[in-house]
Amino acid sequence: MGPRAEKFSRGTYIAGYTCLLTNPVPENYLRIQQAASAIRRSIAARGLFRTVLHLARRATPRGGQASRADQTHPFDREYGVETSGLISGRELAAGHAHDLHSPAYYGIAPSIFKSAIGHWAEALRPGLKLEQYSFVDVGAGKGRAVLLASEYNFRSVVGVELNGGLASIAQKNAIQWKNMGRARCDIQIVNQDATACRWPPMPLLVFLFNPFGRQVLLKLLNILKQEANQGAKPIDVLYVNPEFAFVPDRFPGLLKLWSRKLEMTEADEAVDAFSSRGELCNAYRFQPATGSVLRS
Ligand SMILES: C[S@@+](CC[C@H](N)C(=O)[O-])C[C@H]1O[C@@H](n2cnc3c(N)ncnc32)[C@H](O)[C@@H]1O
Repeated sequence: MGPRAEKFSRGTYIAGYTCLLTNPVPENYLRIQQAASAIRRSIAARGLFRTVLHLARRATPRGGQASRADQTHPFDREYGVETSGLISGRELAAGHAHDLHSPAYYGIAPSIFKSAIGHWAEALRPGLKLEQYSFVDVGAGKGRAVLLASEYNFRSVVGVELNGGLASIAQKNAIQWKNMGRARCDIQIVNQDATACRWPPMPLLVFLFNPFGRQVLLKLLNILKQEANQGAKPIDVLYVNPEFAFVPDRFPGLLKLWSRKLEMTEADEAVDAFSSRGELCNAYRFQPATGSVLRS
């Protein structure tokens, strides 16, 4: 399979699909699952006919070369940072057991991010203010969401990223962002697996832009539940492009607050690698264990 195949749609998803077509022994079951789910989503979004056309167009050399995935997002040009590009999960492998569960790197559309935070902030936990929360981007990539989050008055902003190369780009971006005076709070980038990191001892807004599949997601939710219960700590979760929503939807003690289709601005839509017009976003809240008093 050529490198161009890995740039299709959400990274490895379509790469896995190409694999299915060309290789009678697929590389692994996970990749096939990812490919199948990408195709299901594409059919849901575009319909069967347009999905077939879309795949065919992308399978031609011209379609691949013209890919929007290679374009620099205007956000990068405006602020002199580097957050663009679509990188497949395979290219991101960092030698960790969780590599296989990572679909791809792709920075969130700024308009989607702002809209998600805006809706979340409209319905904060009673008695708490945004300023009391620490924002944690799980799977921070090159740090676009982290940079955007630091423009709000969070108590702190943390980006956790498994891939060392992406984490150092995020770190450089954070320095540039601070030097420009755009950050209103401290930014920390941690190069670690999200299920092994230490969580700030304060109310948390955990941000997920489809960073991994169901197994790692379930592991993460179990850890967050423990955090929430042990310290009686308020924890909310925003899950954008919630491909594995059935995991949080069925997770005991996690309340689904809302689910919305967020619209992109025209500027974001024009450079979106998947020609999307919006993203689905789900918001969840860990319910305090019975008898506990929430700590701020
Ligand atoms: C879709 S990108 C999200 C980028 C960023 N959150 C944003 O919104 O701009 C998902 C990221 O999750 C990272 N990732 C995947 N598995 C991870 C894990 N177990 N721990 C930490 N990061 C992980 C990937 O390397 C990738 O950069």
